[in-house]
Amino acid sequence: MAISFMMDGKEVVVEEGKTLLEVARENGVDIPTICFHEATTANALCRICVVEVEGMRMLQPACIVRAANQMKVQTRSEKVIRARKTILEMLVSTMDLSEAPEIQKMMKEYGADSNRFPNAERRESAIKDDNPMFVRDYSKCLLCWRCVQVCADDAQYTFAINFEGRGFETQIGTFFDSPIPETSCVLCGQCVAVCPTGALKPKREFLLEQGMSPQEIGILNSGRKKRK
Ligand code: SF4
Ligand code: FES
Repeated sequence: MAISFMMDGKEVVVEEGKTLLEVARENGVDIPTICFHEATTANALCRICVVEVEGMRMLQPACIVRAANQMKVQTRSEKVIRARKTILEMLVSTMDLSEAPEIQKMMKEYGADSNRFPNAERRESAIKDDNPMFVRDYSKCLLCWRCVQVCADDAQYTFAINFEGRGFETQIGTFFDSPIPETSCVLCGQCVAVCPTGALKPKREFLLEQGMSPQEIGILNSGRKKRK
């Protein structure tokens, strides 16, 4: 059934069941996303996609809220812009976004101040380098959950990683913090492919950054293959 509603003052007619984000994208309206990825189930964790819906006190995450008949939605109101800017400022205050180009772009667009919360506790974590495929640097992790979802029932059904800890201590990890080779991980690389911040990085890229030459990396890999 078709429904009709207003987005940024324009009437939109769509099939019932679509999210506000889907409708926006179909109509060329830009709504930023971080935790949302086409390959995973939307979970509304980051809130960067919030929009203003007339009659609702709280801003609504466009990635999960469905369009409804007669709804009136503002995707760029003052309140929306302020909320997105604050979310970005909180993120940059607590984690390393140096390898998150999409988020850096958003920061410029929204004029986010990277020093707005100078005393915020930062997420610190030593690099975990325990397998031949990828390294993990959770000081760059914004807990978007994409990696957990592709490892689980959104794609791979491997369930090698999950959330662990509580509150600020929450982080992504393996059961009992086991090294990756001791988990059910099959090194498919899907988690690395969906990570938006460089918290999960291909081992080869990491070694090149560390100053290793492609030849040295090749020798290292052939040694690994022989040992198998
Ligand atoms: S490691 Fe990457 S994909 Fe996984 S939760 Fe952190 S930022 Fe998201
Ligand atoms: S993209 Fe919608 S809440 Fe993260």
